[in-house]
Amino acid sequence: MQAILEIKGLSKAFGGLQALSEFDLTIHRGDLVGILGPNGAGKTTVFNLITGFIRPDAGEVWFKGANITHLKPFQIVNQGMSRTFQLVDLFKEMKVLENVMIPCFSHRARHQRQGGQKPWQVAMEFLKEMGLDQRYNEQVKNLSFGELRLLDIVRAMATQPDLLLLDEPFSGLDVEDAATLAAGIQRMHQKGQTMVIIEHRLRDLLKLVQRVVAIVFGRKIAEGTPEEIMNNESVVQAYLGERRR
Ligand SMILES: Nc1ncnc2c1ncn2[C@@H]1O[C@H](COP(=O)(O)OP(=O)(O)O)[C@@H](O)[C@H]1O
Ligand SMILES: [Mg+2]
Repeated sequence: MQAILEIKGLSKAFGGLQALSEFDLTIHRGDLVGILGPNGAGKTTVFNLITGFIRPDAGEVWFKGANITHLKPFQIVNQGMSRTFQLVDLFKEMKVLENVMIPCFSHRARHQRQGGQKPWQVAMEFLKEMGLDQRYNEQVKNLSFGELRLLDIVRAMATQPDLLLLDEPFSGLDVEDAATLAAGIQRMHQKGQTMVIIEHRLRDLLKLVQRVVAIVFGRKIAEGTPEEIMNNESVVQAYLGERRR
């Protein structure tokens, strides 16, 4: 089976800081993979590199069989890759539904849409996935922190990407919103959505993902099932040592 995403030898330095070193990762269609690492490990740098926001010093990114290493972010979105950011940035003066309508009008979404479906119908379906459909007519500035984050994810889903990248989607969510998000991610996964989720805590990833890639100081130190990662000595030292002691 051809990989949907293949990252080979990706490296990036910022001045004297080696943020990512010879990073390899292969994602297949339908995968739900977690990238785990402490703050500053280079996780967001991986997303920035594969979505064209920054340029690698070395290495290649292949998406659906094409080399996308030097494409611009909007071109990569059109190819079917979407992401969220750690800091949510929405159109605050607009309503919830309007925020999701914008990506629904994107070149990518127009091509993906089934015949006859209106953009707002598609937008409402995605809002429902994250339990936000009742809030469709609300001003974004009136949403809670958790709702804002869920809406940001809905907005990324609305381009109907082949690959969805979520950067620390659980951070700052209360128990209830985290459960809504986890259920939404599981539903999307069951429908076949391919996803990569960044997290700095193993706990939120454990129940959700099939495979975890652990990075520390820009290097992959382990890759395996959540169980394998939890029992991996280097991972235990890097992340869990404090808690286990
Ligand atoms: N645009 C940038 N310019 C300079 N340094 C950066 C930039 N982006 C990230 N870094 C540095 O690279 C390292 C990895 O950052 P990042 O990928 O954001 O880590 P993570 O997402 O795992 O917390 C950090 O030390 C960070 O300060
Ligand atoms: Mg980050």
